Amino acid sequence: MLSQENLKKFERLQKFYPTKKALTLPVLWMIQEQEGWISGKAMKFVAELLDVPVGEVYGVVTFYTMYNQQPRGKYHLQICTNVSCQLRGANNLVAQACKKLCVKLNENTKDGRFTISEVECLGSCGTAPMMQMNNDFVENLTQERLGELLEELK
Ligand code: FES
Repeated sequence: MLSQENLKKFERLQKFYPTKKALTLPVLWMIQEQEGWISGKAMKFVAELLDVPVGEVYGVVTFYTMYNQQPRGKYHLQICTNVSCQLRGANNLVAQACKKLCVKLNENTKDGRFTISEVECLGSCGTAPMMQMNNDFVENLTQERLGELLEELK
């Protein structure tokens, strides 16, 4: 399940963590970077690798929204709809993106290019409204800028 490169990384990281269990987050992240999401099979693999119950791995994956529990589009647009972003129009941005791409929240577009999700605060309230596009923040997002971005990525 882990690539050779990630297996080596795992072995190196073990020296810096007090227990194998403490590597749960980084190992899950490695798998997500490899596969794009965390499948049930991947959770079982991680549980066996780290000698922890699979229920614990499941608990981690379902607690942290950064872990995808299903395949996502090439561009995963996570729009924050928590208080600061909501007050500055985040709900309109969600509706605009869904309408423009003809897709419902958390579903992938038919061409597999986009997924739109609502997420809780991403810690960038001072530049609300904002969204995370894959690993990048797009801050002070306006409807105009969102429209341009979607056109550029289509
Ligand atoms: S409320 Fe949106 S980043 Fe904090």
